[in-house]
Amino acid sequence: MVSSVVSYRRVGRVGVITVDYPPVNAVGVGVRSGLRSALDAGLADAWADILLLTAAGRTFMAGADIREFGKPSQPPILPEVIAAFDASAKPIVAAIHGTALGGGLEVALACHFRVALRSAKLGLPEVKLGLLPGAGGTQRLPRLIGPAKALDMILSGDPVTAATALELGVIDAVDDGDSALDAGLRLAERALAEGWAPRPTSARTDKITDIDPALFADRRAALAKRAPHLFSPHRCVDAVEAAVALPFADGVARERELFFACMESPQRAGLIHSFFAEREVAKIPGLPADTPKRDVRAVAVIGAGTMGGGIAMCFANAGFSVRLLDAAAESLDRGVQAIRRNYEASAKKGKLTDAQVESRMALIRPTLSYDDLADADLVIEAAFENMEIKRRIFAELDRVCKPGAILATNTSTLDVNAIAAATRRPQDVVGMHFFSPANVMRLLENVRGAQTADDVLATVMDLARRIGKVGVLVGVCYGFVGNRILHQRGRESMALVDEGASPQQADRVMTEFGFPLGHFAMTDLAGIDVGWRIREERRKSGDPDAQAVNWLDALAEQGRYGQKTNAGIYRYEPGSRVAIPDPAVDAMIAADRAKRGLVPRAVSDDEIRDRCLCAMVNEAAKILDEGIAARPVDVDAIWLHGYGFPAHRGGLLFWADQVGLPVIAEAIDGYHARFGGSHWELSPLLRRLVLEGRGFRDL
Ligand code: 3HC
Repeated sequence: MVSSVVSYRRVGRVGVITVDYPPVNAVGVGVRSGLRSALDAGLADAWADILLLTAAGRTFMAGADIREFGKPSQPPILPEVIAAFDASAKPIVAAIHGTALGGGLEVALACHFRVALRSAKLGLPEVKLGLLPGAGGTQRLPRLIGPAKALDMILSGDPVTAATALELGVIDAVDDGDSALDAGLRLAERALAEGWAPRPTSARTDKITDIDPALFADRRAALAKRAPHLFSPHRCVDAVEAAVALPFADGVARERELFFACMESPQRAGLIHSFFAEREVAKIPGLPADTPKRDVRAVAVIGAGTMGGGIAMCFANAGFSVRLLDAAAESLDRGVQAIRRNYEASAKKGKLTDAQVESRMALIRPTLSYDDLADADLVIEAAFENMEIKRRIFAELDRVCKPGAILATNTSTLDVNAIAAATRRPQDVVGMHFFSPANVMRLLENVRGAQTADDVLATVMDLARRIGKVGVLVGVCYGFVGNRILHQRGRESMALVDEGASPQQADRVMTEFGFPLGHFAMTDLAGIDVGWRIREERRKSGDPDAQAVNWLDALAEQGRYGQKTNAGIYRYEPGSRVAIPDPAVDAMIAADRAKRGLVPRAVSDDEIRDRCLCAMVNEAAKILDEGIAARPVDVDAIWLHGYGFPAHRGGLLFWADQVGLPVIAEAIDGYHARFGGSHWELSPLLRRLVLEGRGFRDL
């Protein structure tokens, strides 16, 4: 034993170094110093002729310890530890299982030989955290596989399988066993038998000579298009170029410089906040991790429309058996066909095999009868957004479902408690609000009703993870968290157009901020009819908060529903998603302004951005104050995973903290003085935080 997290022992003539730092063997300061000491122990051990590096538990080292970032670095630093492995006088084998990522893979790259279990994955995901591989990865990987393939791996950040790693030349062997230690020992024995000498990666040059400089120019041009706002991908290209242009030591120094530039960028802070946000939301205050969960195997979905079909696919994709129920045979048929088309389209793109399409289709069994739901452990209702219809469905579910079945509604606007009251088991009723397209979008708002039982909450939160979603627990209110904030952005965007901005300008400002789509392009994608029907419903019911009919409603009345009808706020060529500005819409907007006596003015980009984002932050603060979202991180995760909030900005409230709450509160007070309206009244929470000199991060 050389430290509490790294051990050294000998097996025959092989000196075995084992990292054991659960859960993912992150290379923190303890692991770094342990690796250094274990290497020294191995080099000093006269009976060890070769060294083997391996890790205990579920994975090889999954990267540097992200929790240390942003704090002063503690010696020994990783590049120094890695340099010692590279320079080892005894050959070193790395044996990889689970995931070798980031700094973990960089350690392995400095070992002289690498073997991985077939199930292992290897990658350099630093770019996803706003970084670049900063422990020699940008210098050693090109030496092993050439700069072009190294750039593919480094710029995508996606891991490759062991088989691909072997093909690329990242590793020397794939092992079909199930123990990395055994695989490593086998390779070490072979190395001993065949007398392999140390083979430092830093000394290799064959893959980095005669490289056409156009490679780097091309990558830069592609990045300028694909990721113009992002800082670290461009630095990755610079670092790999240094591997080709400079001697190894100078390349490492250049990499270090670029790594620190990334480390200091606000984008790194934002992306790491996003990384932890995704994991933090699973931990619910007041709901201990050991809360019992109900056993869910058989799932049923009610409603075979776009939403219901997407939800059914989510569960079938994760191997659950799914009953899909619709009231009408024709809609059921149409729904099943749409699911098949969707899977077949994925198969065409090579994302699924034909056999997978068939096995998933076989898991989805259509039915017209509620009696077929008697065995379901979980039923998710995704019927038409109407309270009477939903209450009737839940009364029926109460009649047919077995005791203990979880009854979920996918409503996006209706009161989950009123739906629960249609049953005699409100403790089993919960909201599961998926986002369209449900099989694609990662966000799942799980809605806690007034009487929802804790084990139901624990179960739906766990199910989110099992079907690959980011589940966030929210409370009951109109629009829950995500759409309630979206509503504010929508209202403000419409107001800005009334005042003189064009939808295109408003959208451009949002995409320049980093959203994949602006508000109006997103409305076209979601379908203008969706919001129009909801607004109509509210108007008909005499809701005092219902909005007056606007030009967007006029578009819907003309059948311009957005992308699906090739016309909405923009126009679309058939089969294309490219939004083309439409003078007819500009004319409608102008006519609408004229009718209401509004005189358009030039609206600046800054005003558009600030008004939209401040309105969102103010609403989010009100949501927190009301306890509808438990923590700022829940709001951040919802907007990151449901609405494309730019991850490099960390999330809505992380961004607000970066800007500074006093600045935001002052702007909101200013808008309130200028425009009035209860939505511009400063959230009491925001006012309190400013007075106390605190931020959302301190809640
Ligand atoms: N540092 C610190 N903590 C980490 C970590 C890391 N690199 N990777 C994971 N964790 C933590 C998670 O936060 C989580 O903590 P929690 O239980 O308290 O929430 C726990 O480990 C388990 O992680 P997951 O829930 O994500 O477990 P999974 O099994 O789903 O996934 C994984 C495992 C694939 C390793 C995934 O955690 C992952 O992708 N981790 C990040 C890997 C990464 O980005 N590495 C590069 C780091 S940067 C770097 O190496 C810089 C270098 O070049 C100098």
